[in-house]
Amino acid sequence: MLGKIIDYYTIKNQVFIVFETKKIIATIIDDGICNFKEEETSSFAVDVNGFIFDYINPVVEKIDNAIKITHGRYKYVINDNFILSIYFDDVLISSDISYYNNKTNEFIDNSLLEAEGHAVNIEEEYKYIISKKINSNDCLYGLGDKTGFLNKRGYEYDMWNTDDPAPHVDSFKALYKSIPFFIVFNKSYSYGYFFDNTYKSNFNMAKNNSEVVSIGFTDGPLNYYFIGGNNLKDVVSNYTYITGRMDMPKRFTLGYHQSRWSYSTKDEVIKLVDNFKKYDIPLECVHLDIDYMDGYRVFTVNDERFSDFKNFTEEMKNKGVKLVTIIDPGVKVDSNYDVYNYIVKNKLVATENNEVYVNSVWPGESVYPSFIDPKLRTYWGELDGKMLDLGVSGIWNDMNEPASFNGPLPSKVEFSDGNRIHYHDEVHNIYGHYMAKATYEGMKKHNNERPFVITRACYAGTQKYSTVWTGDNHSIWSHLQMAIPQICNLGLSGFAFAGCDVGGFSSDATKELLIRWAELGAITPLFRNHSAMGTKRQEPWQFDDETISIYRKAVKLRYELIPYYYDLFFEAANTGIPAFRAVVLEYPEDSNTYEINDEVMLGANILASPVVEQGKRNKLVYLPSGTNWYDYYSYDKFEPGYHIYDAPLDKLPLFVKEGAIIPKYPNYESLDDPKNIIFEIYPGDGTYIHYQDNGVDFNYEEGEYNIYEISHIDGNIRIDLSYNGYKLYDKIYIKYKNNIQEYKEIGTILKIE
Ligand code: GLC
Repeated sequence: MLGKIIDYYTIKNQVFIVFETKKIIATIIDDGICNFKEEETSSFAVDVNGFIFDYINPVVEKIDNAIKITHGRYKYVINDNFILSIYFDDVLISSDISYYNNKTNEFIDNSLLEAEGHAVNIEEEYKYIISKKINSNDCLYGLGDKTGFLNKRGYEYDMWNTDDPAPHVDSFKALYKSIPFFIVFNKSYSYGYFFDNTYKSNFNMAKNNSEVVSIGFTDGPLNYYFIGGNNLKDVVSNYTYITGRMDMPKRFTLGYHQSRWSYSTKDEVIKLVDNFKKYDIPLECVHLDIDYMDGYRVFTVNDERFSDFKNFTEEMKNKGVKLVTIIDPGVKVDSNYDVYNYIVKNKLVATENNEVYVNSVWPGESVYPSFIDPKLRTYWGELDGKMLDLGVSGIWNDMNEPASFNGPLPSKVEFSDGNRIHYHDEVHNIYGHYMAKATYEGMKKHNNERPFVITRACYAGTQKYSTVWTGDNHSIWSHLQMAIPQICNLGLSGFAFAGCDVGGFSSDATKELLIRWAELGAITPLFRNHSAMGTKRQEPWQFDDETISIYRKAVKLRYELIPYYYDLFFEAANTGIPAFRAVVLEYPEDSNTYEINDEVMLGANILASPVVEQGKRNKLVYLPSGTNWYDYYSYDKFEPGYHIYDAPLDKLPLFVKEGAIIPKYPNYESLDDPKNIIFEIYPGDGTYIHYQDNGVDFNYEEGEYNIYEISHIDGNIRIDLSYNGYKLYDKIYIKYKNNIQEYKEIGTILKIE
């Protein structure tokens, strides 16, 4: 209990509210963005000091012992015991409940449950619980990579990065990522809460009471953000303003990636790449899992199986294929291994009671680098740089929950930040975040190119450093289904660049599952087929000719759409709005979209409705209201509403919004230097902005990019160009229905019919 308000004062955009036992600072960051925190609170994910502004001057009043802060359309009213109410245009949209018990009072005999092999809920002791009132028809989105459906209402989750190889089902409380941010959405308002607390916490999403969300924290100071906005997109944008946004991705990363645990010799990889050529399936990147290393020692290469690695990466590049290597955090205990010697000698590893902490992962006995220490990050980043010198094009960070073969690390394992010790229970959830930061910063410093980092574990804000995948899913239909809401919720939680293991990681894929998964993969931001050792191999030719030909079609569809995706990533880098969007993000006015789990918007212009059920050869499609839609392939017109659409095995149902113009690459352009572009015109007048840069470095941040503005009015197409240094396409084509014409002169009109 914080007690009564006894005083308050304001400095710049910060209001200091003095309670009997504590001081809370309310920082008005922007219209609708406010941080509430205890004094002396710092953040692992957010540069809080960066939000102190002279030019924001909230109106602060004391009325009946409550502090009222007004800024823009928002009012924050703070009462004794820090009971907070928030008004938008004078309508109450969020309020606190003084105390809410989120546990049931039911009699539970854990010993009986245990005897029959059930999981036993260990009652967490919460240091404090924050309970927020919601309306019974609000939808709850976000929370990162949690299992289940798009709307999280009625469920309960934990924030505790967890590596559990069992099939991820709806009742799982935690997966690999902790993104303590959720959105409350209703037709009349949207807002979010970001609880910047890295300790284990529990998010009860109106499970016990349909009008209360309550969040219990096992430790840590109070530090959270109210994030409002005029609409759902604004909330996502405002959240990413606080926690950061991705860079433009390197263009090749949007291509097709092939992986397996493990391609374990050079010859195997060469054969793999040759097969992709032979079967005419575009391939951009091969991922090397743990077996490329020497005894699982990170930053080493096995000389026998991958001899002359630098030449090998070069040889692959000549074939148009880049290599990504996995780097895990666990460093093998081995006194002949320089990485181990360096980090132990320099005290850059986790300790327990001041002794180096050792646990087991792939290399056997291993030590855990302390990624919160900048010295370790610099050293680690330099090692990542050496991988780049070997010709590697991306780094894949795994096992960084951190995982071990003996369950979670004990809570009192010590991690030094160089100045003081933090215990594992405080930094567990940010271990992956700081590993990704080390990797990103090391790579960027090394060659000043856009780093391609993939991480399994992360925290709010890791999107600044890394793309993510959803970890060890299974080759089961329910995981194909879950991938859509899971990647949508990651997008609503700031992660615009995300994907899942196409085909499923564990268990055995069937032909039909792989095909339908490739169709989904073709539209997820990261498109990587990955599977576990010992499972049925998942390269398309492991099945039959039909699989190869449909797989090829899906991958080629992806390549056709890459310029459109690249434009969407430009939007994501600037606004935080993801490419792969929950339909509600585009159609918040249409209540039929609020719980769509089997469709997704690709930007504002394309709706995809993948088939995610075995044996289905048609799909019940919902097309949102307010526009007509056109079949991506045939231009057939569809009115908004429900339709049964034929979806044979080789078809991913795609619909284009009226008036859309979609940029496409003609027949598999090289992503290093795409030479030609098609603008495909769908019926209806419209405009489109297309972005073009070199796809590699940060020059775009200095404005080195071209913008093409395409307009379509009544059959007249005109393209205007703002040229800023990047070399132009050789040829631009305009496609309308089956007609392709070359567009020869910028600024002129070309007629289509
Ligand atoms: C973990 C990863 C998986 C990888 C395996 C071996 O299970 O999630 O992707 O293949 O480790 O490195």
